[in-house]
Amino acid sequence: MFTWKTTCSFPEHWRGDLMIQLGARPAAGFDDPLRMLSDCHRRIEWFLGSLYNVDQVAGETLTPAERQALESALGYFATSGVVHTQDEDESLFPRLRSCADDHPCVHAVLETLERLDLDHQLAHEEHKVVERLIQTWLRDGMLTPDSRENLKLVLESLRERYRGHIELEDSVVFPLARTVLSATVIETVGKEMRQRHTSYLR
Ligand SMILES: [Fe+2]
Ligand SMILES: [Fe+2]
Repeated sequence: MFTWKTTCSFPEHWRGDLMIQLGARPAAGFDDPLRMLSDCHRRIEWFLGSLYNVDQVAGETLTPAERQALESALGYFATSGVVHTQDEDESLFPRLRSCADDHPCVHAVLETLERLDLDHQLAHEEHKVVERLIQTWLRDGMLTPDSRENLKLVLESLRERYRGHIELEDSVVFPLARTVLSATVIETVGKEMRQRHTSYLR
């Protein structure tokens, strides 16, 4: 039976946000790691949208709701967001690359996997800038106009990067993985993800 504790690697106080994102469908568990990765994309989109919206509407002083939204989103990207990238970089993508010689369709997306790897690195750097600026905003209660403009630009870059990145993973990479990877390999990916989420988010 579905429970948040066993199928979602998120602190309890984010539960309401996640329910909004996933609607009536139960979130996927580690027994369906590819769908679980896709579910994580919905959360990434939601938390990134949350950061973007606060930046768009906030006045000089943050309201309690805006502060809560910023803290929740930063917490998500610093924990579950990092683990999501590791799930792909360390568990899924290597399995796909290793079967490229046997599957021409995988060979055809090797460059795509390289692009996704690069996106992960660039997004990591952009998240560090976002983290620094928003922590300053939370601590000081305000940002200088230059910092606010910088935050806006980085959030727009992240949003654009994730838009193409998630589209490629959801529509090309994950369906391909479901086709070429054996049930045993997918099960191993799920076990590794469970181990990673359990130890990282404990
Ligand atoms: Fe990714
Ligand atoms: Fe992803």
